[in-house]
Amino acid sequence: MSKVFRSIEPVLRGLHLEALAQKMVPENTTAKYLIALLTTHSAGFQWDHIFSLIAGLLGVLFVYMVVKLGLHLQKTRNDTPLKDVPGPWLASCSPLYRFWYAVVKGNFHNDLTNLHRKYGNVVRIAPNEVSIWDPLVTREIYAHGDKGYPKCDMYDIALPNGYFNLAVERDIQTHAEGRRAIAKDYSMTATLTAEAHFDNVIGDFILALDRNFAQSGRVCDFTTWSEYFTYDMITDLVFGEAYGFCRTGIDVDGSLKDLRQMLLLSPFLSYLPWIWPITQNRWVKETGMNHYARVCHTPILKRLNHGNVSGRLDLLDGLLKSRYRDGHALPMGEIVNHAYIFILAAPDTASVALRALLINLVRNRDVYNAVMDELTGLKLSNPATWKELADAPLLHAIVKETLRLHPPAGFNLPRAVPAGGRTICGYYLPEGTTVGMSAWCVHANENFWGKDTLEFKPERWLDPESAFKLDRYGLNFGQGARACLGKNIAMVQLVKVAAQILLNFEFELVDEHKIRGLFLLLVVLDGVKVSFKRRVGGPLDDTVEMEGAKF
Ligand code: HEM
Repeated sequence: MSKVFRSIEPVLRGLHLEALAQKMVPENTTAKYLIALLTTHSAGFQWDHIFSLIAGLLGVLFVYMVVKLGLHLQKTRNDTPLKDVPGPWLASCSPLYRFWYAVVKGNFHNDLTNLHRKYGNVVRIAPNEVSIWDPLVTREIYAHGDKGYPKCDMYDIALPNGYFNLAVERDIQTHAEGRRAIAKDYSMTATLTAEAHFDNVIGDFILALDRNFAQSGRVCDFTTWSEYFTYDMITDLVFGEAYGFCRTGIDVDGSLKDLRQMLLLSPFLSYLPWIWPITQNRWVKETGMNHYARVCHTPILKRLNHGNVSGRLDLLDGLLKSRYRDGHALPMGEIVNHAYIFILAAPDTASVALRALLINLVRNRDVYNAVMDELTGLKLSNPATWKELADAPLLHAIVKETLRLHPPAGFNLPRAVPAGGRTICGYYLPEGTTVGMSAWCVHANENFWGKDTLEFKPERWLDPESAFKLDRYGLNFGQGARACLGKNIAMVQLVKVAAQILLNFEFELVDEHKIRGLFLLLVVLDGVKVSFKRRVGGPLDDTVEMEGAKF
């Protein structure tokens, strides 16, 4: 290094720095000293002095910064009533802790459970955020009406366009009114009016699995195909027309690629909100977000321009006909937001659940055999109707148990502590504290549910008392005023498709060791490969020719 300085020495001299320094900063003796050192005529040992000085200054600067940072972290940690809430030191004074576990490591759903096992019911997971483990507290935080806590600013990442957005709205009253305007179309009765459409999409899916995999013996990338199915299902229910993944067997328009891009971005945006401006960046807009806007805008425009040609009462039709209590219609921006949230909220959650369901059945052959006995013992139509499947309680229990053990939503449903603050599990949380509960943690709480809570035991849903408790304190669909609007759609879809898969195919996991859960706010299941075989005596066996089936 000193060689470099020596080589530029003549240049420095040529610049007449000493004179310059005197002109510019006549009173600054430190500057004069430094310049004098730099412009001195004798080389050699003076350079060493300069190095020592620079190193010394850097050292002082470093110590200063470390002390300053330490004081800042201590202040962040202690200048709040949250200082007594237990948790990892780094988490209490910096967002970096959560960033590391949630964004980089991608196993936050399990890591958070372990934090609760170590620290108890209340854990500080970020400077202004705590996580709660006690299932009883779900009744407080996620209560109905004014009693529930409002959503916090993390939800703002869901691209507000200035219009009411059901999933994001923070004001309790505004949310309640907006939800009331559309809620009737999502009741179980309304959902079942579309049962024939569920059947059509499920039929396409079953035939595609048969044609592409069962007949040829090829291994099915079930991660992708379960998404094909759920994406087709939601586009069909909302816009009256499936996007066509199952029929074409391809990622239409690159939709799934874009969906994954958005999922990969979502933990960044949620846990590092200052990154938000990059979402305005053209590159990001060109990815998933634009695609989603297109998926929603195109069919809505088509409907507005040409009317409801098919006459089918799909969810878009419902939105266009919905009215607020004072009789006014939903503005178009709001309808777009609803459609956008449905397309975003439905496919990944339901497809993850479907993958988890198959995995559970392969890993628990006794349960598989029992549910096959149940289904084959019933007189079912092809496809089986929802009404007929009411006589298959174990099948329903399997779906619920899957959602309990692998809740697709892995984040901790954060809320803001309301005015006046609240005391939860003995800790005072001031107003504005972010507080949340993760379904993964809550469902894994052995102290509350018992030692076997992490075991796959659908029978726990068959006992009315136990089922009541599971429904009341479980979080797989959230709770209270902000509980999932599409719960009935999800349940009808999952129960019906599970029945059709079970009745039509035998299945095995391939390369099971490659399956992994990844925290992306949702907990996605990647690497699920399945080999399907037609089930002897199943509906496909009876109705569809092996050669050149319906396609
Ligand atoms: C297995 C499938 C599904 C799971 C596990 C699931 C889970 C959830 C959860 C946990 C929430 C609460 C979020 C929170 O409190 O922050 C939620 C909200 C929501 N879900 Fe789902 N969901 C599923 C399917 C669907 C479907 C099919 C739709 C579409 C119709 C949908 C639409 C919504 C909407 C609109 C909200 C926001 C409700 C509000 O804030 O009022 N979900 N979902």
